[in-house]
Amino acid sequence: MTRPRPLLLALLSSVLLVVLTLALVLPSTIKFKPPQLIKFSTFQLQPLEITPPNPTPTAEPCSPPAKATRNPRADEEKSSEKPGPYHNWEHFNADYNEMMQNLKIYTYPDVHKKSSPFSNIFLPHPDAKKLGNYYSEHAFKTALLSSPLLTSLPEEAHFFYMPFSINLMRLDRRLHSAESIKKFVALYADRISSEFAFWNASGGADHLYVCCHSIGRDAASNHHGLRNSAIQVTCSSSYFQRLYVSHKDVTLPQVWPRPDLDRASTNPPDKRNKLVFFAGREQNARVREKLIALWGKDASMDVFSNNRSFPYEEGFRRSKYCLSVKGYEVNTARVSDAIHFGCIPVIISDYYDLPFTNVLDWSKFSIIINEEDIGILKKILLSISEETYLTMYDNLFLVRRHFSWHTPPRRFDSFYMTAYQLWLRRGLHRLSY
Ligand SMILES: *[C@@H]1O[C@H](CO)[C@@H](O)[C@H](O)[C@H]1NC(C)=O
Ligand SMILES: *[C@@H]1O[C@H](CO)[C@@H](O)[C@H](O)[C@H]1NC(C)=O
Repeated sequence: MTRPRPLLLALLSSVLLVVLTLALVLPSTIKFKPPQLIKFSTFQLQPLEITPPNPTPTAEPCSPPAKATRNPRADEEKSSEKPGPYHNWEHFNADYNEMMQNLKIYTYPDVHKKSSPFSNIFLPHPDAKKLGNYYSEHAFKTALLSSPLLTSLPEEAHFFYMPFSINLMRLDRRLHSAESIKKFVALYADRISSEFAFWNASGGADHLYVCCHSIGRDAASNHHGLRNSAIQVTCSSSYFQRLYVSHKDVTLPQVWPRPDLDRASTNPPDKRNKLVFFAGREQNARVREKLIALWGKDASMDVFSNNRSFPYEEGFRRSKYCLSVKGYEVNTARVSDAIHFGCIPVIISDYYDLPFTNVLDWSKFSIIINEEDIGILKKILLSISEETYLTMYDNLFLVRRHFSWHTPPRRFDSFYMTAYQLWLRRGLHRLSY
């Protein structure tokens, strides 16, 4: 009588085994599909219809500027549902105002120490605008030092800024290489944690450093706490890169310093007779090679490797759409340049963690295209209706203040938007000092 039992058990367990194996195998074959950006087939070309009600532009004193009316009848019909470029302006604005009243950032004193042999790495750069592509790293520092968020009382600080400049280390002959930058940064974090009580109180989790050169990604890798806990504020923010963690780190907008340009002096849509502008080196950039091979000879587009015959800025002025195509890194200053000049940014750079995505709805002022859809670039752009294009064009003027640095910082500029990202990461429990 006891015999059938083991048999039954054996049968049951083999059935279970098959079920378990299936359960394990099936999802894992599904899992292997890499996360995709929105494909063109699912790309919603009328994002106008699917958005929540308009962020009310009545919030004082910092509502987005009123939009110009183009087609009064269409505007009448749509006025109640015309989406702005924000996910939820009212919510963001209220939280932003709370940040302005409460956020405090402490900076380690090296930022003022002129006598140190490495003062060039720590002090604010005297002429940050000369630093072109890496300007944002320096602009953050000068803005912070002149902002009311700065506190000299570490006890009241939410965050601790480590003021070394990765970009200036690159230019310093004593450091220069990626290896010696790593060592320098690790030694600095060790020094901070032995001289001050603040690092150990959180294991570095409320500490931040800023870099706009991709070499900065590796800078923290020799120091456990700096790499795993501290907040990296970086231009090179790719979901697929080692040492960038999107929920811990913060994307710094890469901004080429340019003089302010008001809307009146921006080329209007009807003066933009080219569909697309792109100019940039192809080295190390498969996607750019493909772009130039496919579209370099199309007469409706200005697509060049390096041989354009007109000034760079002119390209942004005379086109409707301006491409930011992945080079060696996901980020380039072309996104903020496009916004600055009133050209809709087209981002072809898979897995780029775009700046301020939790506040800005990028689909309302940019086009994001999967790298593998580059062959249908023209089809995608031509299928965007005039109305959608004009709404996006208007939205560019609402978001451009977020892609501009000032010293002292101005409301909603790149500095305060970046600070807002820190604000959203505040509030950890710390040991007392
Ligand atoms: C912080 O912790 C490290 C490692 O335990 C220790 O060497 C250092 O002295 C501590 N710092 C302070 C300020 O107590
Ligand atoms: C620029 O170079 C590309 C590739 O070398 C070529 O196809 C294109 O015709 C050139 N354009 C101009 C304006 O010279």
